Amino acid sequence: MNPEGKPGQEPSAKTWSGRFSVPIAESVKTYTASVTFDQRLAEFDIQGSLAHAQMLAEAALISQEDFLAIQTGLSTILDEIRQGTFPWNLDDEDVHLNIERRLTHLVGDAGKRLHTARSRNDQVATDIRLYLRHEIDRLRELLAATQAALLDLAELHAATPMPGFTHLQVAQPVTFGHHMMAYVEMFGRDRERLADCRHRVNRLPLGAAALAGTSYPIRRERVAELLDFEALCPNSLDAVSDRDFAIEFCAAAALVMTHVSRLSEEFILWTSPRFNFIRIGDAFCTGSSIMPQKRNPDVPELARGKTGRVTGHLMALLTLMKGQPLAYNKDNQEDKEPLFDTVDTLGTTLTILAEMLRQITVNAPALRAAALEGFSTATDLADYLVKKGMPFRDAHEVVARAVRLAEEQGCDLSGLSLQTLRSHSTLIDADVFAVLTLEGSLASRNIPGGTAPDQVRAAIQVARLNLQR
Ligand code: ARG
Repeated sequence: MNPEGKPGQEPSAKTWSGRFSVPIAESVKTYTASVTFDQRLAEFDIQGSLAHAQMLAEAALISQEDFLAIQTGLSTILDEIRQGTFPWNLDDEDVHLNIERRLTHLVGDAGKRLHTARSRNDQVATDIRLYLRHEIDRLRELLAATQAALLDLAELHAATPMPGFTHLQVAQPVTFGHHMMAYVEMFGRDRERLADCRHRVNRLPLGAAALAGTSYPIRRERVAELLDFEALCPNSLDAVSDRDFAIEFCAAAALVMTHVSRLSEEFILWTSPRFNFIRIGDAFCTGSSIMPQKRNPDVPELARGKTGRVTGHLMALLTLMKGQPLAYNKDNQEDKEPLFDTVDTLGTTLTILAEMLRQITVNAPALRAAALEGFSTATDLADYLVKKGMPFRDAHEVVARAVRLAEEQGCDLSGLSLQTLRSHSTLIDADVFAVLTLEGSLASRNIPGGTAPDQVRAAIQVARLNLQR
């Protein structure tokens, strides 16, 4: 930041200072400025200005020479920004005025003509949309990379039995692959949601000007075409004041993080020696400064923790908007930090999650032992009896008694002798052991969406195809 302005920068009176008899208070200047954080929009601001200037030139609202001068100036500015030499100046309030002043310094009056038929209100709305569109594309790719990592894990363990839980109590056997595929589905819907949100982000506010449109004969469609927007924002008041595209994005992002958080929570449990289901690679664990034996799952813990802040940003934006009358209000300047932090948090979290997933080893023997421990095939025994003609409620009762006995004898259901099992129901024959094993139980759930290894492999195939979309 350069409060004085670097050499070569115009001395800065506020762009709008002509209206006032005394200069703005220092405290107000600092309080109202956004350039410290909205600098991030600079490349998109330039992109938008270039399209606007080209349209102005095509409509003969500025001369061809002015357009060329603007192009040259903006390209110099882009270089300066990329190289970190751009003289950012707090006196110039925000990214838009900083770039405009620099442009005018570099190319003279042409720079002053750029703002014809435009306001910072439609300009900033356009910048955020360009920025967010770009980030949505990047985040969708990161989601796909996360899914790809999950799919590889799922493929490797399409037939590895583990206990499936409800209420965190052992319920029925599932495969580890099936469990991973549940998250592939969640992230797939997240990717769909972002694609859907992108359509509403991808509309052009420019032309709305301050709030009422402009009296210049501009061609908004041309600007939309140049910037690859799929539609115009149809109402000028709405165009400058609406931020629901950003709120919608934050809602989709909060859901992504919620899914990440659930997965993280499971990983945290599973790496605990009490479960010992998986091991996270050393590079993704941290030690304790006091307890030498510790391997802490800091990455999933932080991911779980950061979910709170993303959900918080969604609340911040909803609250920011709820009391605003039409049209633009300065409140809207407060949209940026929550939005940027949401994008950053999602980006870094998905990046590290995809990397971490590639460093996970699954402890198949521990999963199997845990699946055997909790009488997870009890439902299979009940289903077996039902298939032999017993009403389900009676079968439930018979199996409950068999489970109690097995518990007393300290064995699994398949550890009971045929004779013992038959003492509970004579419908039981030797073929019962096929359904009492984990493999028998898994294989029997052979319907679409079920946990049978063949179904899991089929689901993996479909998901791999969907990854291309
Ligand atoms: N920095 C402002 C924002 O982020 C740009 C728009 C300013 N418009 C205005 N009328 N003061 O919203």
